[in-house]
Amino acid sequence: MSDQNVNKGRRRMLTLATSAVGAVGVGFMATPFILSMTPSARAKAAGAPVEVDFSKLAEGVLLTIEWQGKPVWIVKRSDAMMDTLGTLTDLLADPESDVEQQPAYAKNQSRAQEKHPNLSVMVGLCTHLGCVPLEKFAIGPASDMGDDWPGGYFCPCHGSKFDMAGRVYKNVPAPTNLPVPPFRFLSDTVIVVGENPEEAKV
Ligand code: FES
Repeated sequence: MSDQNVNKGRRRMLTLATSAVGAVGVGFMATPFILSMTPSARAKAAGAPVEVDFSKLAEGVLLTIEWQGKPVWIVKRSDAMMDTLGTLTDLLADPESDVEQQPAYAKNQSRAQEKHPNLSVMVGLCTHLGCVPLEKFAIGPASDMGDDWPGGYFCPCHGSKFDMAGRVYKNVPAPTNLPVPPFRFLSDTVIVVGENPEEAKV
């Protein structure tokens, strides 16, 4: 059996429920997805890649999956969300993602892959002490984050803030941007979290 087939066998196929709602808050609780295949306990412990069909994920909605025991967020960002990214450089601690918190193919302003720059895939754990930040996608006063808030994430434990690409703001406890895990596209609407694209493999 080829390595590829072995990997396929270990993966979990996730199919989105029609109304995916993000898992937020301290702790990792909500599971807005349906498991159609469960990996063996051994594969799970080893951190098997997770296949995710995001075709039914609405724009601007946070989907949380589990990979290697960690919450991984998947968001199809709207164009309005994307437009904010270029306006925040002076407010961010590492706007160019110089710290290696992402694969090389996600070292860009949107911290995404060229194939789908609006698709954000990040580990949803604060880089300070590991709390799960809250989704704060609303803009301005509606966000309770201040009139100038452009949308992003807020860690309730000690107040760290991140933009829509998971880039950390200056002067907060979190030292680095949120990590981007390896992921590759199987199709326009299916990714595998935990595997690099073929062209990125050495
Ligand atoms: S754990 Fe997030 S700010 Fe401390």
